[in-house]
Amino acid sequence: MFSKEVYVGRRSELRSRMKDGIGLFPGNAEAPMNYPANPYRFRQDSDFLYFFGHDLPGFTGLVDFDSGEEILFGNDFDMDDIVWMGPQPTVRELALRCGITDTAPLSELRKYIDRALSENRRIHFLPPYRGDTRIMLASLLKENPISMKTLPSVELIKAVVSLRSVKDELEISEIEKAVDIAREMHTTAMKMCRPGVKEQEIAGAIEGIALSMGAGTSFPVILSMDGQTLHNHSHDNILETGRMMVTDAGAETNLHYASDITRTTPVGGRFSTLQKEIYEIVLKANIEAINASRPGVSNLDIHLLACRILAGGLKELGLMKGDIDEAVALGAHALFMPHGIGHMLGLDVHDMEGLGENFVGYNDEIRRSEQFGLAFLRFALPYVPGHVFTIEPGCYFIPELIESWKAEGKFSDFISYGKLEKYMSIGGIRIEDNILITEEGHKVLGSPIPKTVREIEELCSRT
Ligand code: GLY
Ligand code: MN
Repeated sequence: MFSKEVYVGRRSELRSRMKDGIGLFPGNAEAPMNYPANPYRFRQDSDFLYFFGHDLPGFTGLVDFDSGEEILFGNDFDMDDIVWMGPQPTVRELALRCGITDTAPLSELRKYIDRALSENRRIHFLPPYRGDTRIMLASLLKENPISMKTLPSVELIKAVVSLRSVKDELEISEIEKAVDIAREMHTTAMKMCRPGVKEQEIAGAIEGIALSMGAGTSFPVILSMDGQTLHNHSHDNILETGRMMVTDAGAETNLHYASDITRTTPVGGRFSTLQKEIYEIVLKANIEAINASRPGVSNLDIHLLACRILAGGLKELGLMKGDIDEAVALGAHALFMPHGIGHMLGLDVHDMEGLGENFVGYNDEIRRSEQFGLAFLRFALPYVPGHVFTIEPGCYFIPELIESWKAEGKFSDFISYGKLEKYMSIGGIRIEDNILITEEGHKVLGSPIPKTVREIEELCSRT
């Protein structure tokens, strides 16, 4: 974890943004895989990590926004635990490491909340996303967990989003480390991308890298020759010449800051003319979107810029036609790129998505579009220094979507359906980098990862 001053400072900032009441931050518990004592790899709740730093199961943090009191609730280990797990710090020792002097066993939490409820005090909590946390909160608030009437606190969500959205130097340096782990993962995947290799071998190898250099992957590896499926977690294909492999994979550092990088590699390491045609368009969208990113420009502006570059490039190839600005305004290009340009990155790969995407990326003035494609844009607001984003344009040939639009005659003024067949073998191409918004503009995080045709072919030619 960082030094205790970091957590003291974050909680103090939070207190200054909250009017009154009590903030309750349940850390995660172990999650059983197939029987209680055989859990999944533990992942701490990101908000608990942000405010209390500890990467251990079974703790709840509490901040009283009226009195300033802060308490870490948790149980000390007994001798049986120590026999199986080795010597463990006491709750008091853990609390001191994040700058808290008051501790109590978990059984005291109920009494504390009972007292607060009897005094009609507001209990603020963030949206629970695990069943056991929801049951615990419902039990403390004397509610039915299925039909909980006490809702997560919008005031607390907004305060946490405002804090976590802007990354400080410590956090940026962690994210850069995570990108450098991803660099190892992606260069390894590129070198392994040869005909006859099973996708699973590559997916396993790069997951191993994430585990050997940090806390593992920041989301399940997406790696497939069928890159037209945006989040393809199946790795059953044997790689074939003439196809392309999309690898969308990132890592967490040991402190759980994430990276999220995508590269697309031709199987065998050399691009065909056809592959290069589409690849260069996506690369141009990636580079120009990154170059245009700076404070004051919005992620929506950058998204639309990338879409116009994509549509313009496809028009040059004869796959789209008509007025490009009009095509993008109406959403015709979404046949080829049905997702948003990117998302925030931090302790979560889709940072703070669990708090509600509309609280993170939209506000009362800027509302989410309902248009197919644009509706999936996770963030539409202007950038400010300290924001960390992914920039991930793509171009996909999704047979089911193409068939359905073609049958409807949808956007036939903008799409040359008859020309698409030739490109279907491409599947999908996505190129994703992670950027920091700086006072002057932006910075691409981490050491460069091959992404031009020449760089990828050069890396793949190394044995
Ligand atoms: N890397 C997966 C995603 O951004 O959704
Ligand atoms: Mn991403």
